[in-house]
Amino acid sequence: MSIAIRAGDNFVVEIDFDRSEVYPPSHYAKNFVRILSEQPLSGMTVLDAGCGTGVLGIAAAKLGATVTCSDLNPGAIRWAEINAEKNNVSIHCVQSEGIDEFVGRSKFDLVVCNAPSNPGTYNPVVTPRDNGPDGRQFLDSVLVNAPKILHRNGRLLSCSNSEQDWNTTRDILNTYWASYRIVADLDEDFSGLDQFSEDQLKAWVQQGHCWTEGDVTVHNVRYFFAYH
Ligand SMILES: C[S@@+](CC[C@H](N)C(=O)[O-])C[C@H]1O[C@@H](n2cnc3c(N)ncnc32)[C@H](O)[C@@H]1O
Repeated sequence: MSIAIRAGDNFVVEIDFDRSEVYPPSHYAKNFVRILSEQPLSGMTVLDAGCGTGVLGIAAAKLGATVTCSDLNPGAIRWAEINAEKNNVSIHCVQSEGIDEFVGRSKFDLVVCNAPSNPGTYNPVVTPRDNGPDGRQFLDSVLVNAPKILHRNGRLLSCSNSEQDWNTTRDILNTYWASYRIVADLDEDFSGLDQFSEDQLKAWVQQGHCWTEGDVTVHNVRYFFAYH
């Protein structure tokens, strides 16, 4: 399949994917691309941690950054390489679990991470590792470890949704980072993500993580920069 992610009038990232091999770009990716497109990234070094199809790293590369993409899924690495070529940009791809691989070896100006954010092994084909019972496993490891791989004035761009408990995210940000800034606080149609069954969505509503508006299920997502 192919999808074009647009930001503003002139910025577009073209992404190909096979959803049996890699997590497809979702509404999260669209928001990240818009936020990235508003940043002065020319000449910056960027790590796209959990790159999936490479959409965020490729957006950063199109904006002039030198980009490394990493993911534990070998299918993601393959598609990130295919998509970099499709968008005429060069990226460096590394298959790795978490970001420990880079500690003591590389430093970046920006780490961008659209981490898996839902409890359980909701998509065992694409992401064969459990996200942990509360859907925080990769996000938390990035929140704790990204300061170790950032330059002195480096930043993390990530997000946290209402299924994950914002207070936990806020507490980790306050512990490991000098400051943080929420750049987008969005209530979004969550039922559009077709990897979740009706029953799963209903369960999250019952647990108070999401809510319904008419026919759709809605959740809240906060996108933030954390400053080292
Ligand atoms: C929500 S998808 C985001 C993909 C892409 N960045 C995007 O915005 O469309 C999360 C990605 O993180 C990867 N991932 C999950 N756990 C990981 C881990 N512990 N280490 C590295 N990558 C991980 C998954 O394989 C998946 O590609």
